[in-house]
Amino acid sequence: MMEKNIKWHEGKVVKANRHKLHGHKSTLLWFTGLSGSGKSTIAVEVEKVLHEHGIHTYRLDGDNIRHGLNQDLSFSKEDRKENIRRVGEVSKLFVDAGVLTLAAFISPFKEDRAFVRSLFQQQEFIEIYVHANVQTCINRDPKGLYEKVDKGEIKGFTGIDSPYEIPESPEIIVDTEGQSIEKSVEQIVQYLKNNKLI
Ligand code: ADX
Repeated sequence: MMEKNIKWHEGKVVKANRHKLHGHKSTLLWFTGLSGSGKSTIAVEVEKVLHEHGIHTYRLDGDNIRHGLNQDLSFSKEDRKENIRRVGEVSKLFVDAGVLTLAAFISPFKEDRAFVRSLFQQQEFIEIYVHANVQTCINRDPKGLYEKVDKGEIKGFTGIDSPYEIPESPEIIVDTEGQSIEKSVEQIVQYLKNNKLI
């Protein structure tokens, strides 16, 4: 970290005030999994349901964030780390703003996900492992990227020639091979209700 002469300046409105105003808590739902596992699809549907419940939400998505804030980052290990670090910090701001935040990023490295978790209090960070095996993702290939990998047009693709480290103790595992999108959405919303997060 760089040398700095900076001091935290406390506000008069804090997260608890925003929660009271909004009438709900703010949590980060962190979706991790292979490309094509269904992270973005499920996050979009969960957000819709939560919005219909009157909850203030915002969604951060890997492909989208890499168009703007993180357009300077590649898919090297270091850049993926920086990608996740920035998104973790941005998510922290959103959660502090009282917004239930959904982040869908491959986030293949345990260490990077652990860093994001460390930014939050318990119950504020919900890791959701969106599971589908590589062959299923290859068969789905929604963006035609696995085909490009096969042709040698993309190198260092997660699950093929770049690792994906499976989460050891995620709060939720959704199996998109064995169940429908609707069922996965219901599973997540039910978890939030059971834990009094919504
Ligand atoms: S992460 O690894 O840094 O967390 P992120 O979620 O932001 O990845 O972006 C992943 C998306 O970028 C994929 O869904 C895919 O569309 C695209 N992509 C392009 N190149 C790669 C690659 N080498 N590995 C994985 N995804 C890639």
